[in-house]
Amino acid sequence: MTHGVPQALDHVARLAPYVPGRPIEDVARELNLDPASIVKLASNENPRGPSAKVIAAIAAAATDVTRYPDGYGYHLKEALATRLGVTPAQLVLGNGSNDILELATMAYLHRGDAAVYSQHAFAVYPLATHARGAKGIEVPAKDFGHDLPAMRAAITPETRILFVANPNNPTGTWIAPATLEAFIASIPREVLVVLDEAYNEYLEPADRADSVGWVGRCPNLVVSRSFSKAYGLAALRIGYGVMNETVADMFNRVRQPFNVNAIAQAAAIAALADTEYLEASRARNREGLAQLYAGLTALGVPYIPSHGNFVLVKVGDAAAVNHALLLQGVIVRPVASYGLPEYLRVSVGLPAENERFLAALKSALGR
Ligand SMILES: Cc1ncc(COP(=O)(O)O)c(C=O)c1O
Repeated sequence: MTHGVPQALDHVARLAPYVPGRPIEDVARELNLDPASIVKLASNENPRGPSAKVIAAIAAAATDVTRYPDGYGYHLKEALATRLGVTPAQLVLGNGSNDILELATMAYLHRGDAAVYSQHAFAVYPLATHARGAKGIEVPAKDFGHDLPAMRAAITPETRILFVANPNNPTGTWIAPATLEAFIASIPREVLVVLDEAYNEYLEPADRADSVGWVGRCPNLVVSRSFSKAYGLAALRIGYGVMNETVADMFNRVRQPFNVNAIAQAAAIAALADTEYLEASRARNREGLAQLYAGLTALGVPYIPSHGNFVLVKVGDAAAVNHALLLQGVIVRPVASYGLPEYLRVSVGLPAENERFLAALKSALGR
């Protein structure tokens, strides 16, 4: 019993807080390293950052921060609606796509309800579920990916949400469009399916599902996307969800009135228009993955081939290897909390950063 402060809700006190990738400044301070010498490959950001056009849009928007932003996000929704072939009323903007995941649980999960998700899937699904006092049903993974038939079988009468990540973080696994479409169509309409496509833009066009197109046929489907990854805007916190208009109306009732700031909205509009930059980011990522695969293979280190901008690498004693990497100024992501204590997740960096990681790993493993 804690004295002196009010007691929080039991299910909140039981939550294990999310552990983010460590910031460069933090590691520099702790290990007395020059921040400029540190390579961070721990949070699946786009190492190229946003394009010059986007930086210009951010600078322009930064001159007018006196007024509240457009809480509805008119211009960004118009741009997204045109691009995606949906109505603006089917769109909900989020403070990162994380916000969309949270809004889903706020609008659809009650104490005593349940949400289904896969083992080794994104950490926010259990976190957001448990934050509502709801029960998480974690379905054992199959070959590190989602076991879809087992997930469908895990649905109980209490289940209100089912989360699917495609591609999945941290495993990088991917579900083929036809398989995913049949799966989603088979889920009872009372269950909201949240299809998390934070890494969608890193997929090759041929591997991308027409998930937004499925929303018309599946009114229980929410597709969430992010500007944090391929678009390079992680610090601005902006994402969106595409869904049935009635579902969007429910999400809008529980979101903060001004959940997405004006600079983020302006940046996202510019980023969406800069298709060339996005394609180049995808190409650079493909090359970076090839570079990492080649280096890992040369070191004899197993990895899971990825459809995202990161690779799950099997290093054995991951905590020790992670520490040895940190001492060399390389920040990657331990994933023991995902039930993967022998693995580290490494984001694809610039070629020189990937090289730094591979050299540091070689030394950490004594090879
Ligand atoms: C699978 C997945 N979904 C959602 C997110 C949330 O990203 P953001 O809130 O930055 O859009 C992440 C971030 O790492 C992720 O990996």
